[in-house]
Amino acid sequence: MKKVPDILLNDGTKIPQIGLGLYLIKDEADFMNAFKIAYDNNYRLFDSAQFYKNEHFLAKAIKEYRINRKDIFVTTKIAVNNFGYKRTLKSFDQSLKKLGSDYFDLVLLHFPVPVLRKQSWKALEKIKLQGAARSIGVSNYTIKHLEELKKYANILPSVNQVELHLFLEQPKLLDYCNKNNIKIEAYAPLAHGLPMDNPIVLRMAKKYNKTYAQIMLRFDYQLGLIIIPKSITKERIIQNINILDFEITAEDFNLLKTLDKKLRTCWDPTRIP
Ligand SMILES: NC(=O)c1ccc[n+]([C@@H]2O[C@H](COP(=O)([O-])OP(=O)(O)OC[C@H]3O[C@@H](n4cnc5c(N)ncnc54)[C@H](OP(=O)(O)O)[C@@H]3O)[C@@H](O)[C@H]2O)c1
Repeated sequence: MKKVPDILLNDGTKIPQIGLGLYLIKDEADFMNAFKIAYDNNYRLFDSAQFYKNEHFLAKAIKEYRINRKDIFVTTKIAVNNFGYKRTLKSFDQSLKKLGSDYFDLVLLHFPVPVLRKQSWKALEKIKLQGAARSIGVSNYTIKHLEELKKYANILPSVNQVELHLFLEQPKLLDYCNKNNIKIEAYAPLAHGLPMDNPIVLRMAKKYNKTYAQIMLRFDYQLGLIIIPKSITKERIIQNINILDFEITAEDFNLLKTLDKKLRTCWDPTRIP
């Protein structure tokens, strides 16, 4: 099995390009099982959030499976109801306690919450300077939110985690982030598991002898994005990281690019002032 490449962030830290999404894994047994399968199959990036209520399961997995904390890359996100300077700091301390560690690898603001997002960013900058977050970033930020942030930030985000897949390609945001050295981390890279029935993707899956999901993931991967597909199913967890042994040709890639239909399966931040 090939090693998952790292992506270099603008602060000099490295993040694995493929990770396991942890949204909706609320059952402890499911979590422990998914984590073990993922770890055994070379996943090192685990994407949690205060909102997912499973940071403490990560602590349990680290302990029970005797994982060296430094061997994994753990993300959390400040929940919308914890925005504001003091609340961000306080809730982050609670997240650290839940993880049983003195740092997270990456801490994101989960959403561009109006009014409060500036103070929350200032809190993340403090956390980063104290060393309790190796990297900091944002999630669901549009170009407008990033432009605003640039005006008051002392530290620019390393990552913007947004929904980005074959059917929601966001080329302008991708271009903007590339130019500003902010890495896009693609959430819902399988469009939340929506019916996998697009005839072009089906045809390509057959051609490359891969699954529909693997074509979707490889598309994001070839765009240079960090991807965090979620699954609690053994064969899917394994399948989702096994996308390193083939390459979609330029011609097929351009065909896939025509499938964008601006399909959002999660939040829509474009109307947030
Ligand atoms: N920052 C944000 O606002 C935000 C928002 C949404 C998500 N996220 C992050 O991104 C991660 C991924 O997004 P997501 O969980 O919403 O959606 P996703 O990864 O696009 O899709 C997950 C769904 O697809 C299914 N699936 C996984 N692998 C599959 C495969 N190989 N074949 C067929 N079906 C497959 C899963 O089912 P099973 O689990 O039953 O196998 C699950 O129902 C989240 O877990 C979270 O960490 C962040």
